[in-house]
Amino acid sequence: MHPDVEELRPKLKEILYDCAVEIRATKAALYLYDGPASRFELVTEYGFKVPIRQSADVKDPIIDRCGRGRTPFFVNGLAVEPRFSEILYESQTERLLAAPVYMRGSLVGVVDMRDKAGKLPFEQGDTQKAQRIADRIAELFGSKNVFGLRYIALSEADGGAEITTSLSDGMATQQSRAVIADMKNLPQVMPRPQAPPPAAPAAPVAEKPKPPEPPQKPRANVGHLASLVLEARNAAMRIIVPSAPESLTENELAAVRELLKSTLLIPGAVAALFSAFGHAGGVQEVAARGQLGDDGVHFLQSKLNVWLTKRGEAGGHVRTNMQAPLAGSAPITVAQLQKVFTAPVNVPSMRGLYVTVAFEGNPDRGAHEMLAANLNQIQLALEHALEHGKIATLRTRVAEKLLEPDFTHYPELRRHTDSVVTRVDQFARFLALPAQDAENARILAIVHDVGMRLLDYPRLYRKPNMQPDEIHLLREHVYVGAAVVEPLLGNEIARGVLCHHERVDGRGYPNELHGDEIPLLARIVQICDAWSAMTDPDTYQPVESTDNALAIITRGAGSQFDAELASRFVAMMKT
Ligand SMILES: [Fe+2]
Ligand SMILES: [Fe+2]
Repeated sequence: MHPDVEELRPKLKEILYDCAVEIRATKAALYLYDGPASRFELVTEYGFKVPIRQSADVKDPIIDRCGRGRTPFFVNGLAVEPRFSEILYESQTERLLAAPVYMRGSLVGVVDMRDKAGKLPFEQGDTQKAQRIADRIAELFGSKNVFGLRYIALSEADGGAEITTSLSDGMATQQSRAVIADMKNLPQVMPRPQAPPPAAPAAPVAEKPKPPEPPQKPRANVGHLASLVLEARNAAMRIIVPSAPESLTENELAAVRELLKSTLLIPGAVAALFSAFGHAGGVQEVAARGQLGDDGVHFLQSKLNVWLTKRGEAGGHVRTNMQAPLAGSAPITVAQLQKVFTAPVNVPSMRGLYVTVAFEGNPDRGAHEMLAANLNQIQLALEHALEHGKIATLRTRVAEKLLEPDFTHYPELRRHTDSVVTRVDQFARFLALPAQDAENARILAIVHDVGMRLLDYPRLYRKPNMQPDEIHLLREHVYVGAAVVEPLLGNEIARGVLCHHERVDGRGYPNELHGDEIPLLARIVQICDAWSAMTDPDTYQPVESTDNALAIITRGAGSQFDAELASRFVAMMKT
């Protein structure tokens, strides 16, 4: 990696976090062009649950599309554009938004964003935000004179000014020429910008230009917020030391075997492999529609090994168990194994698990969706089969650890959290929730306001007459909290954090969800949260008597609160 890029990496990560703050992308990666290697290398990323590719060559579909289109683009769905399906599937994501990073008309990087929070699709407005983030990256390079070039913002071409792709000397020039040469039909005239351009001169100058003033308002907090989010994630990651079981038990393999059989029900799927490396010598389960010979198994194994090598991961020796083929099916030949997909099986306490599926042709959109669902099922089955007790304890520890150390500085926030946890525990028992739901409700209660401490909490807490932008900032705590807990505690808890201020009548935030669209755990925590806010002495509002608070909960049934849960809560408090 270029030493200047290495030096800028922390700053680049901070800018990348703007994808979470401004676009609400739950995952993002920055790839920059590496001339000597003739490919785009991963520089920094956040949020991905599975290891992602370390590099992409110029023929990669995302790089290619960024080079040809020169503007950000998005793909909402696994099979909207088949050439992106494998990339989405391998990283266990469903949506993609990518923005090119240009310097002097040359593609030098790509910002690769995935899966917007709340499972929302990316939309046109996001592309403008994405371009501004990509411009900030290019601007950073320009201000540092990285690659020997100054930056020219895309938006500088207002009025249709021509930007040529024949460049002057400089590392980026040489590095980018290969990319440009490879990309046919590059437009010679840049598209008219959709946002006001940052001021940037067109030619290199000796003196470093003064960077444009950043816009005021929420952006003023973004850098600070981003570094705090990073710090919280780094701290939390050190907490997780999952104990790796030595091997999969027969029970766990039996669960996988059943699901591998169902993989074969996906249209076009002819064979499926489940490979577990490094666990007591490794084991591999094979299911195929018809009899699959040794050559077929070796072919799939070699495909898997190539895939592992590309990702820098190790395979190993495996003991292969073949399942009996479906009755009456013809044998499967190697020629039928036309398209082979591999994805890691992401189980919290284990590594080295993969599923490989072979199709006899190009799978269509429906097949890709079924494949993703099938992988999810395998993961869930394994998760449930693994020791639940250890995982439960670990998750609660992580949740509690997330409150430290900053919560010790905000004792009233800590007291509020403890009060909500106590009430949620009581309510979960009253509702006779299944053990797993009760545990998740408790974890959600612990972390529901964890995003608050990362915002401008000391200044805004109890501040009278908050301005709209201050209210807006505080409301961001649901996004910040969800982003912080998602990689550590999973999607269900993150969704609960995101939705704990929604209302069943659709007037809540952030997504104005209605009724059952709001996860059950969030609806439970929301009532207990409101109760705590009304009845605890050190909240920002006057304390309500128990009777008044119960009357408010009753009045809010069906509008602010889930009607059934509100009535059960009132019943609980009266017993
Ligand atoms: Fe909250
Ligand atoms: Fe709260």
